[in-house]
Amino acid sequence: MKDQIKKIAVLTSGGDSPGMNAAIRAVVRAAVFHEIEVEGVFQGYDGLIKGDFKRLNVRSVAKILGRGGTILKSARSAEFMTKEGRQKAFDNLKNRNVDALITIGGNGTFTGAHIFHEEFGLPVMGIPGTIDNDLFGSDNTIGFDTATNTVVEAIDKIRDTANSHNRLFFVEVMGRDAGFIALRSGIATGAIAVLMPEEEMSIDELIEVLEKGAESNKTSSIVIVAEGDANGGAYEVARKVNQRYSQYETRVTVLGHIQRGGVPSCWDRVLASRMGVAAVEGLINGHKDVMIGIINDKEEYVKLNDAISQKAEPNAEEMRIAKILSI
Ligand code: F6P
Repeated sequence: MKDQIKKIAVLTSGGDSPGMNAAIRAVVRAAVFHEIEVEGVFQGYDGLIKGDFKRLNVRSVAKILGRGGTILKSARSAEFMTKEGRQKAFDNLKNRNVDALITIGGNGTFTGAHIFHEEFGLPVMGIPGTIDNDLFGSDNTIGFDTATNTVVEAIDKIRDTANSHNRLFFVEVMGRDAGFIALRSGIATGAIAVLMPEEEMSIDELIEVLEKGAESNKTSSIVIVAEGDANGGAYEVARKVNQRYSQYETRVTVLGHIQRGGVPSCWDRVLASRMGVAAVEGLINGHKDVMIGIINDKEEYVKLNDAISQKAEPNAEEMRIAKILSI
């Protein structure tokens, strides 16, 4: 098996996430450890199409373990969605004698990787890197822990000023169409309510919760709104609440892209390191068209098709306790 893989390429694609650099480092070092050469591909699938490659060695990835962003840059490629684009990408890999491709990213990245494997048969391996934590087949994705810590730090600060002014804040967090960031940070900051796509809460229900809080002498509150929630973003939710409820003066904060940057947490560095090594060793052992996931603290290879087609569900117990503790 081992003799079949002599050279791998690695890229990062889609929205970046803290810990991607730690994953690149782990891929390069594990590959070199197993006597495999590595080509770094810049700008995601666009770089694959344009031939933007650079040989990486152990020193190329020195001192990046604790850096946010991705040294390989990232992009969302429209051209890779076309057959012609993918053909160019495959030709570039073949010209460089690349035997396998590791893609670090989220759902869109893996959809492209899966199609690429189906068309050309090149072994592909996905490493889940997204702050959204929305991939089926891994308990955590790289960057989720850091992003939620960033959110918690920001909301703790908002809480101080909310308290001083007896205000109600609506804080919008990222997550695309998933509510993992909202739920986790809601529990950690003691939000009075978490609005997330996976669990409907109408404006009437939200007002009921706020009323109960006011009755029990809550002077200020935080409502977390996942950007994908059905009620609209935080501004929209605030507008609808203000129309019918005037107990509090309200303010809105949209946290935005600060959630994607910054130094990766210890958890994300270790997660990325484990996944990077397992990705390389998985390819050596013949796994292809899969994503490396960690489930119950154990490395598992999950079919890319399952990772992209099945839905990752937030922890039901976390959803339950978020309500119990917010009264
Ligand atoms: O997938 C990561 C993510 O940050 C989402 O949470 C968000 O919806 C999206 O990317 C934002 O993308 P962009 O950086 O292109 O605005």
